[in-house]
This record gives sequence, C-alpha cells and structure tokens, in this order.
Amino acid sequence: MSPSHPTELSGYAEKLIRGRRATRAFRPDPVPEQTLRAVFALAGAAPSSSNTQPWQVEVVSGSLRDRLADALQAAHAERRTTVDFPYHEDMYSIAQQRRRAAFGTALYGALGIGRNDHAARAAFDAESLRFYGAPHIAFLFTAGGAGARLAADVGIYTQTLLLAMTAYGLASCPQGLLSFYADTVRGELGVDRGKLLVGISFGYADESAPVNHITTDRAALDATTTFRC
Ligand SMILES: Cc1cc2nc3c(=O)[nH]c(=O)nc-3n(C[C@H](O)[C@H](O)[C@H](O)COP(=O)(O)O)c2cc1C
Repeated sequence: MSPSHPTELSGYAEKLIRGRRATRAFRPDPVPEQTLRAVFALAGAAPSSSNTQPWQVEVVSGSLRDRLADALQAAHAERRTTVDFPYHEDMYSIAQQRRRAAFGTALYGALGIGRNDHAARAAFDAESLRFYGAPHIAFLFTAGGAGARLAADVGIYTQTLLLAMTAYGLASCPQGLLSFYADTVRGELGVDRGKLLVGISFGYADESAPVNHITTDRAALDATTTFRC
C-alpha cells in the first residue's frame, strides 16, 4: 500500500480534525467528571520541546465559573485589561486581515448584526466573557514566562485538547479574548504564576443556535504550503 493511500486511521483523523469547530452557544449541562478526566488525560499526550510539557491547565466549573463570569463583566466595564502575550492589530498581513474580515461577516451575519453596527458587535463580544453559556472553561497558562517557544508548546497542547474534546463529544470555543483579562482570571482562580495564553469554553453545543452553524473556509493549500525538493 502506498503511504498516501487512505488508511482506517486517516479516515478517523479526517472526521476528527474537520469535525471540530468553534461553538458559540452551549447548553448548561455539566460534563461528567469521568469524561473531564479522560479528555484532559488524553490532551496531556501532546508533544512539546524536549518533552518539557510547559503548560499549566486550570479547569473552572460550578460557582467559581459564575463568579469569574461576573468578575470579567466588571473588569470589562471598568476597562481593566491585562495581557501576558502582547497583541497588536498591525501584526496581521493584508491576506490575514481579509480572512479576519470574512470571518467577522460570517459570524455577525449569523447573529443578524449588521456590518456597521459596532455597538451590537461590541455587546456580543462583551457577553462572550460569560463563556457563551458553557459550563466549563479550561485556562491554559505557560508554566513559566511568556516566551514564544513556551507559547508554541501550549498552542500545540491547545489543539490536542480541542481534538480530545471533539473525540469525546464535547463542543468547544478557544477564546483569546479571555486572555485580555489575565489578572482578573488569576485573581479569581487564586493562581499567582504562569502566563495566560487562552481560555477554552466547553461543554455540549446548543445545536438549535444559528451561530453554531456558520462555516469557515480555509486558504488553498498552495497559499500556505510549499513542497520543495
Ligand atoms: C488562539 C485562538 C483564539 C480565539 N479567540 C476567539 C475569541 O476570543 N472569541 C471567539 O468567539 N472565537 C475565538 N476563536 C475561534 C476562531 O474564531 C475560530 O477557530 C476560527 O474562526 C476558525 O473557525 P473554526 O474553529 O470553527 O474552524 C479563537 C481561536 C483560536 C485558535
């Protein structure tokens, strides 16, 4: 069999990788503890530089989740933002800005929010600090500084976790926005170390919500990948 021939595993991988998508409306039902433990144990199989595993994962549920949502609303209202990993709009190339705009059109279109309705867009973003209604959030910190190489390892862990969730029937949304409130998150969790890269809201999808049915396309293979010999 030639190596490029589809295998049983490649069939599963196609389903798993293409089956994951960002979910922005959740049912409140909690995930059983046994499933939580299985998912996070599987995610721990992620690769990292020299097997250093430089991630610190905080899974938040229950009344702490509710208190954190309120604290994030307050921080947002008072414009108390803190980031561990700097963010600049101008880091995006023209092609990336175009993809971002197309995504925004699809997202806000599904919500019935017009192109120039900046107030409604801002209100939706603020409300997303309530985790889109998800009962759980995984906060992914680098266990150490905010270096790019540590962040890359935690990024790899992130996708491994998202796929593990998909495999166990859980819906998820990575939310970079949560990382803009790093001090608030640390304060509510009682965590005093690590740099916050991203929060992942997760649980069970509300399949009746139109926002969960937007599609995002991808750049053509040749636009991102060059095969050389
Ligand atoms: C690092 C990262 C940060 C993200 N931040 C947000 C966010 O703050 N809010 C949100 O609704 N979606 C967020 N997303 C989800 C992306 O918008 C989504 O992954 C992208 O549009 C592709 O869609 P798909 O995940 O459905 O394939 C984030 C995704 C990643 C990987």
